[in-house]
Amino acid sequence: MMSNHKQIEFKEVNNDNFRAVVKLTDTLSDMQKRCVAPNVVSIAQAYLNPEKAWVRAIYLDETPIGFVMLNINPDDIKDDDMPALYVWRFMIGGAYQSKGYGKMAMDMILEKARKESKKTVYLSCGMEYEMPYQFYMNYGFTDTKIMHDDEEVLKIYL
Ligand SMILES: CC(C)(COP(=O)(O)OP(=O)(O)OC[C@H]1O[C@@H](n2cnc3c(N)ncnc32)[C@H](O)[C@@H]1OP(=O)(O)O)[C@@H](O)C(=O)NCCC(=O)NCCS
Repeated sequence: MMSNHKQIEFKEVNNDNFRAVVKLTDTLSDMQKRCVAPNVVSIAQAYLNPEKAWVRAIYLDETPIGFVMLNINPDDIKDDDMPALYVWRFMIGGAYQSKGYGKMAMDMILEKARKESKKTVYLSCGMEYEMPYQFYMNYGFTDTKIMHDDEEVLKIYL
């Protein structure tokens, strides 16, 4: 099955793909829109936090199918788990979900973290719905049982 999947890659968000990346948010269900900030908001926050934010579009061939924003300099992680990378925003467009691309993109995030000798990858997610919590637990994240801004904090050791 997986061998039928095409490769995905991360590309910078620029003037050429900005609109397509912003529009990906419209492809989410109303429920999913409650789980992740609109991509346009994330891009604006990245502009305001240049020392922390690492922003990429997730591409399948020439098509942007998702969006990721990492905090590459998180400052609120316990010392034992540092250095850490924090997945700030993560989404796959509606038409491309449940095809394994989210998992592949998470593999690439962890690979980036490993290359940079990070010890952990952290993220937080709303507990209102089964997804995306189930996606992260299936992937291998551990529930820290800590809440941050009404979201459950999850982590994975590298
Ligand atoms: C969460 C999200 C990124 C997952 O991406 P995806 O490409 O759909 O996930 P994948 O196809 O890689 O699925 C990986 C695993 O997640 C689970 N999964 C995916 N979609 C699922 C669904 N609709 N229902 C139940 N489980 C599902 C499956 O167990 C799958 O494992 P498998 O390989 O054993 O089938 C995507 O659904 C999304 O963007 N959701 C909306 C935004 C959001 O919630 N972002 C996270 C904010 S914290």
